[in-house]
Amino acid sequence: MSSTRSVRLALLGCGTVGSEVVRLLHEQAADLTARIGAPLELAGIAVRRLGRERGDLPVDPSLFTTDALSLIKRDDVDVVIEVVGGIEPARSWLIESLRAGKSVVTANKALLAEDGGTLHAAAAEGGADLYYEASVAGAIPLLRPLRESLHGDRVTQVTGIVNGTTNFILSSMAATGAGFDEALEEATELGYAEADPTADVEGFDAAAKAAILASLAFHTRVTAADVFREGMTGVTAGDMASAKEMGCTIKLLCIAQRGSGVEGDTVSVRVHPAMIPLSHPLAGVGDAFNAVFVEAEAAGPLMFYGRGAGGRPTASAVLGDIVAAARNKLTGTRAPSESNYASLAVRPIGESMTRYHISLDVAERPGVLATVAGVFAQHEVSIATVRQSGREDDAKLVIVTHSAPDAALAATVEALSRLDIVRSIASVLRVEGGAG
Ligand code: NDP
Ligand code: HSE
Repeated sequence: MSSTRSVRLALLGCGTVGSEVVRLLHEQAADLTARIGAPLELAGIAVRRLGRERGDLPVDPSLFTTDALSLIKRDDVDVVIEVVGGIEPARSWLIESLRAGKSVVTANKALLAEDGGTLHAAAAEGGADLYYEASVAGAIPLLRPLRESLHGDRVTQVTGIVNGTTNFILSSMAATGAGFDEALEEATELGYAEADPTADVEGFDAAAKAAILASLAFHTRVTAADVFREGMTGVTAGDMASAKEMGCTIKLLCIAQRGSGVEGDTVSVRVHPAMIPLSHPLAGVGDAFNAVFVEAEAAGPLMFYGRGAGGRPTASAVLGDIVAAARNKLTGTRAPSESNYASLAVRPIGESMTRYHISLDVAERPGVLATVAGVFAQHEVSIATVRQSGREDDAKLVIVTHSAPDAALAATVEALSRLDIVRSIASVLRVEGGAG
């Protein structure tokens, strides 16, 4: 294309994120032109409902269409921006665009985590760019550092708080002593949680982001199906109080680790609530903020922090990608393509090394502690600390283990639940980051 004409954009979706993309394109038009070397121009905007009220959006109403496919097929479209979400029809639109040589900017974590490989293949086939900075941790520049800046280093672990809704809920529980239901209600009232919060509280949203992070950090392909996922609906006010007593808090973490097993190098990726010490860099990440802690061999620890959601912060990341894609269009270059040469095997959760915090209600009589300790010993799980608070004929035991394979820890809990002297297992939480 000639650098004398504008770079033409097809915007698919004009909701929370899309409408802010339109606003930023308008507000920053002059600077964007100067930075790119040519103006950006909206060729069309595909939406589901033409009649929807869109407020004072600074855009010509005749640009709206419900025919996304015809829009992306137009010869004068250079870059396709997808902020619709979901798997289909987004996947078909993006494959069509990329194969036709049109660069794609998307915020669609669900699609990238489910079928990123197909999108990358279509981009390679069409010689087009595929950018998706906004798909993980909203405004935080994170994927480009993993995809480019850290390519001379070896990343060993990525630990993140990548879901704002659940971080708001857990931060509120920690601050006020509220239970999960009460904190979720507050998050919904304040507009953080969606009407159906399942994807957030059950960890599906974080698992999709974890898959994308692990793929980029370890040069391999990880899909959402490879991620061990446990939601945070079971975290109680009692768990949070218990964490506090240990100098900890509870966060929904995504943890991607490079390791080695008998078959060679491996990767493990998991999402679950975990206790972390208050001294951990992620413990102070409150409200609906996101943060990702990256450990690399030469760089050491790196922390990325900021707003992980919201229309305007997310649009900031989308705009950054649009600028990159537009520059490449003008100079006839391409962004680095997918790097998946490492082809790491995914380690099952049972082989992940972690620690457990287990809270048990037991009978108060001689030999109970010895019996409980015996179960840990049988499963080769070493106990780090035990705290007992006694009552008349029953007692509460809080046990924190040393690091052990998750399968051994889970089997220990299962065996404990079958003991007559164990009246109930009040809670089981993983412990990460040196807590305990
Ligand atoms: P919204 O639901 O607010 O907006 C979706 C948009 O897509 C709407 O404009 C809707 O049209 C349009 N749309 C839906 N179906 C179709 C269709 N079949 N054809 C054409 N247009 C369609 O979503 P968000 O803006 O919140 O999210 C968009 C993407 O960004 C998702 O992938 C999400 O995961 C991701 N994301 C969102 C963040 C956020 O904070 N919201 C943060 C990070 C990523 P209409 O306006 O007519 O309803
Ligand atoms: N529902 C997500 C969150 C939006 O709460 O973080 C950003 O992906």
